[in-house]
Amino acid sequence: YDATKLVFYVNGKRVEETDVDPKMTLATYLRDKLKLTGTKIGCNEGGCGACTIMVSHVEDGEIKHFSANSCLMPICGVFGKAVTTVEGIGSVAKNRLHPVQERLAKAHGSQCGFCTSGFVMAMYALLRNNPNPTVSDINLGLQGNLCRCTGYRPILEAFYSFAVNENGTLKVSEDNGCGMGENCCKLKKKDENGICGGEETTPGYTGGDRKRKIQLSDLSDCKPYDPTQELIFPPELKLH
Ligand code: FES
Ligand code: FES
Repeated sequence: YDATKLVFYVNGKRVEETDVDPKMTLATYLRDKLKLTGTKIGCNEGGCGACTIMVSHVEDGEIKHFSANSCLMPICGVFGKAVTTVEGIGSVAKNRLHPVQERLAKAHGSQCGFCTSGFVMAMYALLRNNPNPTVSDINLGLQGNLCRCTGYRPILEAFYSFAVNENGTLKVSEDNGCGMGENCCKLKKKDENGICGGEETTPGYTGGDRKRKIQLSDLSDCKPYDPTQELIFPPELKLH
């Protein structure tokens, strides 16, 4: 690289800057300079996840993806990396919704929408690293995202639909915090006495309360996630 230039990619397009304010954050750059206002700024201090984007780079010869709070990332921190924002994965206006967006919309997981692109990008980054996540992986991947409207249930129901086994049960890893693993009572329906009946889990069950849960939305006609349809990593960045 020419050390006098800041070079990175945003949604597959090359960006070159020769005179950028090093105090500027990536969130401000995306919104004010590139007009990519899908990335929201809520707290501006790393606490809410509204500004979540995905950063990809080559490490030890492999392409690695991670979600990041763009409000905490100095613009020069993305030198030689590829940034993906919510605009880069799908939109109603330009192309189709990405399966993450489609499921969140169908499950009514967006109300005011301020947190939505952050949740979408956190889930998207998780899927890019692991197309077959468990419920625990999803819980971990969304830990940094807050929503003040939905109560989380529809958001989790939307995203847990990526963690369903062929027989319709939820994929729960052994480290879900409960020694019972897939037999954890939070994942089972209760009988009328509140006793765990050992029935199969309804996809989308979020646990939490002790009542039998009914799935809020039918997500059965949503597109499957197909990792081969994702934007390729910029070849130029592989060389460095
Ligand atoms: Fe809240 Fe970045 S705006 S974490
Ligand atoms: Fe309003 Fe999440 S939908 S903050």
